[in-house]
Amino acid sequence: MNVGLTTQILPANEAAVAASARCLSQGGLVAFPTETVYGLGADAANPLAIARLYQAKCRPAFNPLIAHVGDIEAARRIARFDATALLLAQVFWPGPLTLVLPKTSDCAVADLATAGLDTIAVRVPAHPVAREILRAFGGPVVAPSANLSGHVSPTTAAHVQGDLDGRIDLIVDGGPVEVGVESSIVGCFDQPMLLRPGGLARSEIERVLGRTLKQLPEDGGGDSGQPLAPGMLASHYAPRTPVRLNATRIEPGEVVLAFGPASVPGMEAAAVIMNLSPRSNVVEAAAHLFGYLRTLDARGARGIAVMPVPHHGLGEAINDRLRRAAVGRE
Ligand code: TXA
Ligand code: MG
Repeated sequence: MNVGLTTQILPANEAAVAASARCLSQGGLVAFPTETVYGLGADAANPLAIARLYQAKCRPAFNPLIAHVGDIEAARRIARFDATALLLAQVFWPGPLTLVLPKTSDCAVADLATAGLDTIAVRVPAHPVAREILRAFGGPVVAPSANLSGHVSPTTAAHVQGDLDGRIDLIVDGGPVEVGVESSIVGCFDQPMLLRPGGLARSEIERVLGRTLKQLPEDGGGDSGQPLAPGMLASHYAPRTPVRLNATRIEPGEVVLAFGPASVPGMEAAAVIMNLSPRSNVVEAAAHLFGYLRTLDARGARGIAVMPVPHHGLGEAINDRLRRAAVGRE
């Protein structure tokens, strides 16, 4: 176990960027802000560092990681782009989009990071601190969300600290993140497929492609038996408190994750109510989602009642995360 490390926390500045690059090149683990959620970075070419990363997160080793790079040129050294992938990269990078593509034959990313798949997930993040760390380090950095496996993704440095203090080397504190849900993942196969809804709305991607994205099959793997996105397993995002979706009344003992201006019966008796967006804005709701779930979970209530959240725009990603939170506790 990595327990027993001293975790340094530095405010995001030049010294922190230099310390991050040094730590990564020595095989260390560095949590840093991206525009979507905080990531836990390791040198993508260093399998030992990646093994430590899985260990630090208690993450099942079959779950492949996203390689973060500074620009399209760096991405093309590790992944093969077809015309569709190139179009999406040119329009949406840097930004909250991850592409799953075939690996190049001389791909420097360790197999452990891709869990043995011959495809690789790549993204160019937009957050200035992430970009500076990538530039200073000079190679691909794998970075899953910086939480313990099964916990919600961190949107502040304090969330990271709560989960990983003593298990990683460094946390770079760049303040709360902007988007609040993970990147959207598009698999560029025969037909482009949405593997994970996220911070870039499906409609935006489809508008650029001029076609609809294929949907991931419900069983998450298609006919081949090879999981396309093991992270899609329903157990991924799981608060300890039972989560009840689409609540139109609140039961005694429940705390409430609300959405919009309306009130529902039973709400007046609830001990805690946190509203994702009183003005019904799904972008604002996404930014609050993980932090509020975490706070509500910490109350040790009988249950978390979640009011309906519309499916448009980022609502799709929010509902996806909420569904996982509701089923993922076994
Ligand atoms: O916004 C994000 O994407 C954040 C920040 C830190 O960049 N990262 C993130 O990583 O969410 P993680 O490890 O929590 O989620 C990565 C997802 C998992 O669902 C994994 O199964 C999927 O990407 N994935 C990775 N490589 C894949 C591959 N070759 N094929 C299919 N899915 C893949
Ligand atoms: Mg994650």
